[in-house]
Amino acid sequence: MKNDITLGKLSLINRVLYSGFLLTISLGFCMSALQILMTHGMADGEMGLSHKDVVYSYYGNRNGSKLETALKGKMKLKAPPEVNAVLIEWAHKGAPESEWSTVLPLIEKHCSKCHADDESDLPRIEQIDVAKSMVKVDEGASISTLTRVSHIHLFGISFIFLYIGWIFSMAEFNPAWKVFLIGSPFGFLILDVLSWWLTKYWSEFATMILISGVGYGISAFIMLTVSLAQMWLPRWREPKYY
Ligand code: HEC
Repeated sequence: MKNDITLGKLSLINRVLYSGFLLTISLGFCMSALQILMTHGMADGEMGLSHKDVVYSYYGNRNGSKLETALKGKMKLKAPPEVNAVLIEWAHKGAPESEWSTVLPLIEKHCSKCHADDESDLPRIEQIDVAKSMVKVDEGASISTLTRVSHIHLFGISFIFLYIGWIFSMAEFNPAWKVFLIGSPFGFLILDVLSWWLTKYWSEFATMILISGVGYGISAFIMLTVSLAQMWLPRWREPKYY
């Protein structure tokens, strides 16, 4: 494959433009990794992203309710353990209305400051029917969440990889690997989104989510570093284009 324009030959203005984009995108990748750690990473109540987190986030914890999963995971530290225990026991009993008078003050004290806030769309668990709906078995991500997140990811991330791949297409690199690195993120992206849906129904697919996420992470990392290096390091630069 012959390409006339290589990254080392680009004018300063183009290098600044492409580097600005690549650096901003790298920061975006760091933020999304942090975001994954803070949401999905905490799904099982322990720091760090594990296979179990992925199963809980998409398939759910079919042994317990949404309320219980939250209280043992993301919401674990919002109230003292004895309060969590009372709420979990209430959930185990199937959310009896007769005990609402003991449960409600606990919710108002520990949960309402976020969950009763008009600005947010968090479930208003101080309302009895909302609380009761949270006690149904946790089936993981809802169809509406999956549809929303899927279309955002497919549209948004494909554009990111279009530009990263386009810049990287001007790199001096082994041609076969170049084709693979430019093409694979799209495959991993589709695989990732597809496996969210599969994991929603069959928890066995959780591994596929982890593999595809790591897959496009690695492709992106290689393309970003190679592109930046070849635009700026003297080794690839042709003196007459300085
Ligand atoms: C500091 C703010 C805050 C407090 C206090 C808080 N929550 Fe939450 N809660 C959140 C946020 C934010 C989310 C959404 C997290 C997410 O999806 O990543 C959430 C999610 C939940 C969910 C999951 C809802 C769903 O649809 O999956 C439940 C259940 C829940 N909280 C229960 C509680 C209970 C019970 C308490 C009190 C013991 C509590 N929360 C206290 C902020 C809070």
